[in-house]
Amino acid sequence: MADKGDELPGGGPKGAGDQLIRALRWFGVGLLGLVLIGAFGALVFGGWATRLEQDAGFVSPTTGDSALAGVPIGGPFSLTNASTGAAVTDKSFHGKWMLVYFGYTFCPDVCPTDLQRIVAALQQMGKAGDKVVPIFITVDPARDTREALARYVALFSPRLIGLTGSQEAVDRVVSAYRVYVQKVPAATSGAPYAVNHSAFIYLMDEKGRLAGVFPPGLSPTVLAQAWRKTLGRDGSSI
Ligand code: NI
Repeated sequence: MADKGDELPGGGPKGAGDQLIRALRWFGVGLLGLVLIGAFGALVFGGWATRLEQDAGFVSPTTGDSALAGVPIGGPFSLTNASTGAAVTDKSFHGKWMLVYFGYTFCPDVCPTDLQRIVAALQQMGKAGDKVVPIFITVDPARDTREALARYVALFSPRLIGLTGSQEAVDRVVSAYRVYVQKVPAATSGAPYAVNHSAFIYLMDEKGRLAGVFPPGLSPTVLAQAWRKTLGRDGSSI
């Protein structure tokens, strides 16, 4: 039903004019709305983009403004060093920074690419990189035997430590780091299955606390810059 108060007296051609005015008015309101939404979107997106650029994808749990603030990620684990056969726990690495990355040796693309980037970034960091231990934890212990994992990590760097363990021990660390792991049918013939997994890089400080999470796909230069910054925030000299 039309709103009488908005109608001009007379009707006829004036009614048509009134309709046009009303249409224009609504168009104006709509346009204003769009402009406001656009401005808001630009602000939000602009801020996000700037932050992403500034922080190079770094999400700090200490800044208090990230989705990860207060989320406990990491913690105790008990696994085996694939190369030495030694039993290791999270405490074995205290006093060093850990870069923790989850994956499996059969991974067709993401794992090898990111492991190369991690190693390259640590090289770019120079001496500061010596404080950091890169760790690759398998999410597929059934196929990643000690020998297979040891051979695999050695392809990337003698510094890269491969950790494996019983399915139960791996499940525990996967859960502690909030890693998504899903066994799926293999896309290519030859392999019995593939494992979909999240591919974040976790930077843990010298006491094993989460210091940063980095998404896959960042360049070594960006990673090296972000890690330098994080290590520097610790107050130790770099
Ligand atoms: Ni992978």
